[in-house]
Amino acid sequence: MEVVILSGSKQIGKLAADAIEELLRRKPNAVLGLATGSSPLPIYDELVARYERVGLDFSRASGFALDEYVGLPAGHPESYREVIRREFTDRVNIPPENVHGPDGTATDIPEACRAYEEAIAAVGGTDLQLLGVGTDGHIGFNEPGSSFASRTRIKSLIEQTRRDNARFFSGLADVPHHVLTQGLGTIMDARHVILVATGAQKAQAVREFVEGPVSAICPASVLQFHPHATVLLDEAAASALKLADFYRHTYDNKPAWQGI
Ligand code: GLP
Repeated sequence: MEVVILSGSKQIGKLAADAIEELLRRKPNAVLGLATGSSPLPIYDELVARYERVGLDFSRASGFALDEYVGLPAGHPESYREVIRREFTDRVNIPPENVHGPDGTATDIPEACRAYEEAIAAVGGTDLQLLGVGTDGHIGFNEPGSSFASRTRIKSLIEQTRRDNARFFSGLADVPHHVLTQGLGTIMDARHVILVATGAQKAQAVREFVEGPVSAICPASVLQFHPHATVLLDEAAASALKLADFYRHTYDNKPAWQGI
């Protein structure tokens, strides 16, 4: 796991966008794993800026959302399909038919989850997965206790996550209890994972998943087993790390050609 501590969200957005740009130039039909939440927004803004400025081309790329609420009607502004569309894919030239998400409106949920796994496999798997992290250490919507081998499935949200996400709804009562999420096993199959965390409210979760034991109680800790996981942090999110100076020193002295 590579930990990179940067001065702010703009720098994080630029570094992650560099990796995505390099991927798209090497592999124009790259498969991007897309996350919602506020953490990836600076990355999307930077990619949109590069699309507008230098024509960074997404025309052959595809995108797969990490997760989705169950039961929100299609087109609901807070459904993750809509959020991804609004925040990113409608702002670049990725064909809408190449953008996928788990179907939270399906009547046969297990079948919808199976179909989603098959759709990811059919395009050759995810090349680069973007992630945020919940204050309880969840990634996607894999709450504490999630199996490290899990695939896309239905999950129940814990109250803390519902409270964290209530800001997007008119109140806590409107936050769905159920979600579909790529499993930890699905996320671990991505060839490169970039997790972004910013702000002091994430410091404890970051400390636990980066430097704590690998345990299902902290789902993001599974990334310690990933062969190519990059963790991009601002100073506040990095503030509880024991080895922060070591991560800074390592990154500062990294050969420039290596990228992240
Ligand atoms: C939600 C999403 C996660 C996201 C998390 C943190 O629970 N399902 O994918 O990582 O929120 O969001 P934020 O980046 O806004 O803190």
